[in-house]
Amino acid sequence: MKHLLSIEKLNRADIEHILVETARFKRERGHPVQQPLQNQTWALIFSKSSTRTRVSFEVGIRELGGNSLFLNASDIQLGRGEAIKDTARTLGRMIHGAVIRTFAQKDVEDFAQMSGIPTINALTDDEHPCQILSDLFSIQEKRGSVTDKVVTFVGDGACNVAASWIFAAAKLGFELRIAAPKAFQPDAELLKRAGGRVLCTEDARKAASGADVIYTDVWVSMGKEAESADRLAKLRPYQVNQSLVRCAKPGALVMHCLPAYHDKEIDVETFEANATTIFDQAENRLHTQKAIIDWLVRK
Ligand code: CP
Ligand code: NVA
Repeated sequence: MKHLLSIEKLNRADIEHILVETARFKRERGHPVQQPLQNQTWALIFSKSSTRTRVSFEVGIRELGGNSLFLNASDIQLGRGEAIKDTARTLGRMIHGAVIRTFAQKDVEDFAQMSGIPTINALTDDEHPCQILSDLFSIQEKRGSVTDKVVTFVGDGACNVAASWIFAAAKLGFELRIAAPKAFQPDAELLKRAGGRVLCTEDARKAASGADVIYTDVWVSMGKEAESADRLAKLRPYQVNQSLVRCAKPGALVMHCLPAYHDKEIDVETFEANATTIFDQAENRLHTQKAIIDWLVRK
């Protein structure tokens, strides 16, 4: 039984396979050759908000021939305290796959273990693997192989998206730089576990210097709302703006996983100047997730 729980647990060959298949799903959209989810129902169990992940999975599952069932975690008994393991054992007898967005990584792992059905991490506090696989595809689509590139993540270096970038850098061998204030640097133990070429610095301009990709994410991740004031104050010097982008390689990609908070982590001018790239990223979630599901269900 295969699952997509993190970038950490994926190997390079699987990542490369998913990227190749993403290109095929993108090319073949509207002319499907196979529908691997025929007669299947997949559930999306979400404890956090979502636009892109929810819609791209619902549309993708349908395009693969399956049905999708959106379950807001607070509407099912899970929200009233039913154990994730019991939810998993119940749903595992009724549905064929699960896509879960929640807080604790362990909940996704427990669900995968107890349900007996393919399980996808659609974002936890620890990782956002579908996002990073899709972003790797977007970089490859626009600039070729990521292996010889320098990717600079600017902002909350301790968030789920940054963590998935760290594991991706180690798996694929590209240079990753993280520019973040001291309080939002990646966890030292995580960096050690991941390995790879990861430079962490408080100096955003140094991190951006000569980079092929400048990437950012929200300063206040879901679940961290109580820390908003402190985060906005500490992260203010880490805004992606024209002055920072000028430090990067000419023509560098400016990427954002969205949702964006304009004039916070990215200024409006920079966001709009790079809107094609950013919304291509959003679209590519659909193609990548179809490739992920296909990889999970293929014998
Ligand atoms: N990037 C991303 O996961 O967006 P949503 O929160 O809208 O799903
Ligand atoms: N780090 C963000 C990503 C949103 C897609 C969050 O967890 O809210």
